[in-house]
Amino acid sequence: MAILVTGGAGYIGSHTCVELLNEGYEIVVVDNFSNSSQEALRRVTEITGKSFKLYQLDLLDKEKLEAVFEENKIEAVIHFAGFKAVGESVELPLKYYQNNITGTIVLCELMKKYHVKNLVFSSSATVYGMTDHVPIREDAQLGAVNPYGRTKLMIEEILRDLHHSDQTWNIAILRYFNPIGAHASGRIGEDPTGIPNNLMPYISQVAVGKLERLTIHGNDYQTKDGTGIRDYIHIVDLALGHIKALEKIKRRSGGVDAYNLGTGKGYSVSEMVDAFEKASGKIISTTISRRRPGDAATCYANPTKAKEQLDWHAVRGIDEMCQDSWRWQQNNPTGYVKKVNKESRTPVQSNAAVFFNV
Ligand code: WQD
Repeated sequence: MAILVTGGAGYIGSHTCVELLNEGYEIVVVDNFSNSSQEALRRVTEITGKSFKLYQLDLLDKEKLEAVFEENKIEAVIHFAGFKAVGESVELPLKYYQNNITGTIVLCELMKKYHVKNLVFSSSATVYGMTDHVPIREDAQLGAVNPYGRTKLMIEEILRDLHHSDQTWNIAILRYFNPIGAHASGRIGEDPTGIPNNLMPYISQVAVGKLERLTIHGNDYQTKDGTGIRDYIHIVDLALGHIKALEKIKRRSGGVDAYNLGTGKGYSVSEMVDAFEKASGKIISTTISRRRPGDAATCYANPTKAKEQLDWHAVRGIDEMCQDSWRWQQNNPTGYVKKVNKESRTPVQSNAAVFFNV
């Protein structure tokens, strides 16, 4: 029996594939590579020494996705596939609703048809909106403030309705805080398209000389040093949280629960700059701008529920997060894209499985 990983070539997906394979799971990956690279999956095989099947497809292509269920015995799905750029979602809301929500509905319809009811869903702390009531518990007021966050919130509601209609659905909703860092090998990591929106990839690109300086969005918040505070969590801790969530839903006959995947500690932008300078030995040039619209001053998790119910908690500290981020960035200054002629890459056959062999 295999675990189907949608969006398995992405930053969180690829790190979770490594941990699934390390745990001995058989996996099947589907990805349309709209915001990820096949190279990440090749390196997952390199790191783990394990093979797995890949189907290049879009979740909106129901016929191609159904073939995956026809050709493989799927016991559970970890669903990462989705667009996640807040700014882009404001400019292109229909693209986000179509891709994130309709894609999830197509997936759930096929899961239902093939009697696969175990689902781990990739949600986000963004569903808590602009709350400053910290630490944030799972029963906090929900209220997304942008189309991206609203897709995550709506999908959570869809999954609750699905479970209400059929109690055998077995769903874990994981609300990520701020994932950063990389696998210790430095072979896989965060590879944003274009100019990074998020803090850590921006800082690491300044450190490696790809970007000139970091613009700190506001230093007049009511926080220890005036800059925004967030709950940064190591990507490997986050990936391991998915393994624990999978084990939890496999132990029960049905249910739907949301869990915060965060450390429970908050660090300011200035503290992150200092930590990265310490890890990299580089000076990060900065400038201050006005606040970024939609940013909360402070956001960090109460991770108690995941500790108690998933037997999971984050163990990697901020120094390790920065060291691992820097190792990835240093070893891969242009991310996964090599300076090779694009034509020289053999495209994945989209209508059949491709084996990533050791
Ligand atoms: C962190 C802090 C910024 C960039 C976002 C999404 C959320 C989730 C995680 C998907 C804030 C400051 C940032 C920069 C800065 N993604 N900052 N200069 O906004 O907490 O969350 O990513 O689920 O949905 O909203 O993360 O990394 O963008 O910002 O000063 O160039 O860094 O103001 O205080 P955020 P972030």
